[in-house]
Amino acid sequence: MNLVTTEILKTNEVKPGYFLHDYNAPLMAKTSEPGQFIHVRVAAGPHPILRRPFSICSAKEDRLQILFRVVGEGTHLLSKVMPGEKIDIMGPIGTPFKIEHKPAVLIAGGIGCAPLYFLALRMKEANIPVRFYYGARSVSDLPLHEEINAIAGELNITTEDGSLGKKGLITDVLPDRLTQDFAVYACGPETMLHALKKILDAQGISAQFSLENRMACGVGACMGCVTRTISGFKRVCVDGPVFSSDDVVI
Ligand SMILES: Cc1cc2nc3c(=O)[nH]c(=O)nc-3n(C[C@H](O)[C@H](O)[C@H](O)COP(=O)(O)OP(=O)(O)OC[C@H]3O[C@@H](n4cnc5c(N)ncnc54)[C@H](O)[C@@H]3O)c2cc1C
Ligand code: FES
Repeated sequence: MNLVTTEILKTNEVKPGYFLHDYNAPLMAKTSEPGQFIHVRVAAGPHPILRRPFSICSAKEDRLQILFRVVGEGTHLLSKVMPGEKIDIMGPIGTPFKIEHKPAVLIAGGIGCAPLYFLALRMKEANIPVRFYYGARSVSDLPLHEEINAIAGELNITTEDGSLGKKGLITDVLPDRLTQDFAVYACGPETMLHALKKILDAQGISAQFSLENRMACGVGACMGCVTRTISGFKRVCVDGPVFSSDDVVI
C-alpha cells in the first residue's frame, strides 16, 4: 500500500452527479487489482478529517481511475477538485476478487459497477467470457453502461423506472440457474446483495461479494467497518472488501 500526493489528470461528470477521476499514480496503478479501493483525502484542508473509500474502476500504465456518485459532503468536495490540482490518496487497499478461469456472471447494483467494470476489463484481457447484469433506479444512474457494453459479451440492464432495459430489479432477470459452470461476482447495495444471497443459497452456489460498509481509518485499526460473517466479525477494509457469499451474514 502507498500513500501519495498526486496530480489529478482528468475529471469528467459522466452523468449528473457521477464523476470519473483519473489520477497520476504509476506505482498504485501497477499493483491494483479489481475489488481493491483507494482511501482519498477529499479536501486539502483539515476538514473533513476522515478519508473516503472508492473502488478502483480501472488502472492502466500510470493512471488510476475512480467513479463516484455525489451523496454527501465528502463526495461534493471531491467533485469540485480540478485537473492539475493535487490529491492525497492511499492504496491499493483490501483483498481483490479472485479471478476464476471460467465464464463469469458479474452483477452490479448502482455505483457497484465501478469495481466490476475493472474486473470486466481484466477478464477481457484474459479472454474470459463475461455476462454483465447491471441494475439501477433509472438510466441516469447507469454511468458506465456504454463502456460495459463495449467490453462484455452480454449486458443485461434493469431500471426501477423502466427508463432503460427491463423494468424492475436486477435480481429479477438473472438466469434461472446460476450453475457451477459460472463464477459469480457482485457489488451493490446491501438490499441487492441480500436478495442475491437468497437466490445463490437456494441454488447451492457461492459468489464473491464486494461490500461497501462505511469506513473510518481504512487500514484495519479502528474496527469502524466490521461486518458479520459466519466466522465472526471481520473488517471490510482489510479482511475484505471482497468476501465469499457463503461467509457473509447479510
Ligand atoms: C470499499 C468501498 C468502496 C466504495 N466504492 C465506491 C465507489 O467506487 N464509488 C462511490 O461513489 N462510492 C463508493 N463507496 C461509497 C463511498 O465511500 C461513500 O459514498 C462516500 O464515503 C460518502 O462520503 P460523503 O462524505 O459524500 O457522504 P456522507 O456525508 O458520509 O454520507 C452521505 C450519505 O451517503 C450514505 N453513505 C455514506 N457512505 C456510504 C457507504 N459506504 N455505503 C452506502 N451509503 C453510504 C450515508 O449514509 C448518507 O446517507 C465505497 C465504499 C467502500 C467502503
Ligand atoms: S475502517 Fe478502520 S478497521 Fe476498517
